[in-house]
Amino acid sequence: MCGIVGVITAEGGVGEVLSKALKRLEYRGYDSVGVATVNENRIYIKKDKGKIDEVNERLDLTDVPGLIGIGHTRWATHGIPSKINSHPHCDCENRIAVVHNGIIENYSGLKERLTRNGHKFVSETDTEVVPHLIEEKLNNGLNTFTAILETVKELKGSYAIAVLIADYPDRIYVARNESPLVIGVKDKSYVFCASDIPAFLPITNQVIFLYDGEVAELSLNGVAIRNLNGEIINREILEMDLTPEMAKKGGFPHFMLKEIFEQPKALKNTLRIDEGRLIEVCKILNECDRIIFTSAGTSFYAGLCGKYFLANLSRTRSEAVISSEFDEVMKNIIDERTTVVAISQSGETSDTISAAKYAKRLGAKIISISNTVGSSLTRLADATIYTQAGPEIGVAATKTFLVQLGALSLISCKLAEFKAVINRDEYKKLLNDLNSLPEIIQLILDKTEREVKASTEAYHNSISFLYLGRGINSAVAMEGALKLKEIAYIHAEGYAAGESKHGPIALINQGFPVVFVAPIDSTHNKIIGNIMEMKARGARIISVIEEEDKEIQLISDTVFRIPKATDNFFKQIVYIVPLQLFAYYMAVRKGLDPDKPRNLAKAVTVA
Ligand code: AGP
Repeated sequence: MCGIVGVITAEGGVGEVLSKALKRLEYRGYDSVGVATVNENRIYIKKDKGKIDEVNERLDLTDVPGLIGIGHTRWATHGIPSKINSHPHCDCENRIAVVHNGIIENYSGLKERLTRNGHKFVSETDTEVVPHLIEEKLNNGLNTFTAILETVKELKGSYAIAVLIADYPDRIYVARNESPLVIGVKDKSYVFCASDIPAFLPITNQVIFLYDGEVAELSLNGVAIRNLNGEIINREILEMDLTPEMAKKGGFPHFMLKEIFEQPKALKNTLRIDEGRLIEVCKILNECDRIIFTSAGTSFYAGLCGKYFLANLSRTRSEAVISSEFDEVMKNIIDERTTVVAISQSGETSDTISAAKYAKRLGAKIISISNTVGSSLTRLADATIYTQAGPEIGVAATKTFLVQLGALSLISCKLAEFKAVINRDEYKKLLNDLNSLPEIIQLILDKTEREVKASTEAYHNSISFLYLGRGINSAVAMEGALKLKEIAYIHAEGYAAGESKHGPIALINQGFPVVFVAPIDSTHNKIIGNIMEMKARGARIISVIEEEDKEIQLISDTVFRIPKATDNFFKQIVYIVPLQLFAYYMAVRKGLDPDKPRNLAKAVTVA
């Protein structure tokens, strides 16, 4: 997730407008920043690695000539954060500059073709194919709009792009597919494009939305939108009633809620992980004797799920060890036949890095799964799988947990195929299962949010909760309990349901709330037994169930319903979503700020 912006102005000060707009988009990524302007038919670029303030201090982004420009703040996906990989990217002749947010899935094929035809690439990014494609079309004699249109037709994946062309210093071309892009207009003095409204909100709240599969030419004379067939689209200008702060959160009251709602997209992007990358990781996993997941907090629960996926899908034994315990537990176990899979959203968690370093010293191979390109953990790893959640601002991990499960599922499927545990058709069926999850999550968000919010009425005075599940659902229960603890400050314990009768059941008295993660799967009958045990002792039962599960509905006080997904191998993954919402609404009900829980930091960089 990056932030892009473009501006054409009659007022001057284009560098200043771009810098301020980028600052307001910095929540979308801050690995590097860059701007390009056109003046006297020449493109000027300033860009570098670092946050906008740091780069501004070095390069003074406000000092650029012209009345038109584009800018970018980067969340790295392809290529480490560096000056070369910073946007804008150009064609061979530096006549076309492009900024992009998204992932171009077919970039390597396009790059190969363009390179064969003499184009010179300088960066590792997927984006760089775009200016070269436009250059190719213009060299073939197409007019600019058609060149952009034909370029976009060749792109697969997600993109919002803004394009400057040196020969046309009065216009910006934009296009979008599955990445956000809005246009802002103010009389004949300003026209903007941006990933998000806050970029230009202090100057105008007059907005035109661009939809997927549309291309537009922006100039001070107007906005011309066309679809990919070249047909003209008329779109009205809307007046947005938003404060800059609200707009930054996409209209949501908190980043946490926004990020919960971003999960369908985040998962979809993560499921696009390059097959070659998966194979590289599976080779390492297949060649070792011992696989150990290590991570902290939410990422540890993802590791537990990873253990279930590996066992159930690829018949591969593994274990999950909390990073801060790693050296104590593993000191006589690690050797060069060991592979450690270190999972960390930030890639900067000190405990996880220490565990990985410790294992590496003893000869183990390290695979990292991280949401942060170029982070410390990824730098010491032998291979890395990047999740694609975009930046997570809320301290509580939500979308990054879900995408970790997505990445672990993909790895497990690939390893199963690699080891010939499943054939190609079975692999494809599993991929279909995974690819249907974003839609199921969207349905949960659309249908369940209201009932989850309403349920807090009955529970907000409770001071302790037990969260139970069996098998992989116990890891989901633990993550649900962690969410409630960290943002609503309510004691919550996540446990394997079968184990609850060996101790935690002593806590249960009249009205004690127990949350069950209870899909219709192999754990269903036994979980009903656990619910009855708790009910018999006066517990109030909250169950996350499949919508047609009348059996558990009848014995529960509160249910959160999940759409039926009978044959879906990965259906348990989505059961975390209502639990995230529950924690969120409990915190809000208690008047707490879910984005900034006390005593916690987004990345814990102390041991
Ligand atoms: C999650 O909600 C927590 N804030 C925390 O447990 C977090 O998951 C943990 O600190 C690990 O972070 P990482 O994934 O960045 O390594």
